[in-house]
This record gives sequence, structure tokens and C-alpha cells, in this order.
Amino acid sequence: MSTQKMHIDRYERNWMIVSAVLLVLFASAVSVAAFGMGIQVPAPEQRVNPNTVATDPNSPWSNPGLREVAPGKYDAYILAHAIPNWEYLPKEISVPVGSTVSFYVTSPDVQHGFKVQNTNANFMVIPGQVSKLTVTFDEPGTYNYICTEYCGSGHGVMYGAITVTP
Ligand code: CUA
Repeated sequence: MSTQKMHIDRYERNWMIVSAVLLVLFASAVSVAAFGMGIQVPAPEQRVNPNTVATDPNSPWSNPGLREVAPGKYDAYILAHAIPNWEYLPKEISVPVGSTVSFYVTSPDVQHGFKVQNTNANFMVIPGQVSKLTVTFDEPGTYNYICTEYCGSGHGVMYGAITVTP
């Protein structure tokens, strides 16, 4: 009975070592980002019932719009819907320059997106959950918010605007 030692080609062995080193590097990078720098994937801010979120008088989205919660600080409750037509409610909001706005966005029907142009705000809007992101507007001007998830035939005209006044 003969035994035979398994032969691994030198190139193959080197590539296996490189692959293993890369896995360790990637795992380290993800760990440093998550635990060292505190970067986490967005979690749903709140759960809501999509069947009643737009009509229940206790739901802020039955009366969407801006609420000033402190001087220069606002909560913006925004409803993104495709039924009966594709739009955000409200279509327009206005805040003075330097304001900090927390957007609370939800949908009663299908999945939408919410991107505020020229800011880092860009997230999915999912029926049944509330997406939140906070933006400080340091420059006056008009910032459009646009739908970034395909949501039907009116997707391309689904937008609104924030006016930041001097
Ligand atoms: Cu709403 Cu695309």
C-alpha cells in the first residue's frame, strides 16, 4: 500500500493565502466601522399601520407637514403615496436658513424613495415603517425631494421641494 502526498501547485497555494488574508482584512474593516466608528445600517424608526396611517386623526401623517419642536428645529412628517396619484404630502415646505429638519417619511401603499437633492438624505420608504433622517440646511435655496424607487407610472413626476429662506 502506497501513500501519496497531495500536491498543491505553488500558484494555487499563493492565491489561497491571498484570499485568506483578504477575508481577514475585510472582516477587520467591517468590525472597525461597526464597533469603532459606530456606523450602523439604518433601522426602522417606528412601525405604523399602512391602512390607517394617512387617515387616523392620532397619526401625524393624517395632517402631514412641518412642526417646530424648538427654535430652528423642525420635524417634517411626509406622506409618500401612489394612490390616488403619485405625490408627496406636503408638496412644499419652507424653513429659514440654518434650520435642522428631521424627516419622518412613510407610505400607505407601495414602496417609494426619498432623496433630498444636494444633501446626504436618501432612503427607502416602506409601507408600515417610518424612515427618519436629519438634515441641517446651511445654504439658502431650493432643495427638491424626489422619489428614487420605481413605484408605478407616475414615479417620474413624484417630487416636492424645500425652500430654505435667507
Ligand atoms: Cu414614488 Cu417612485
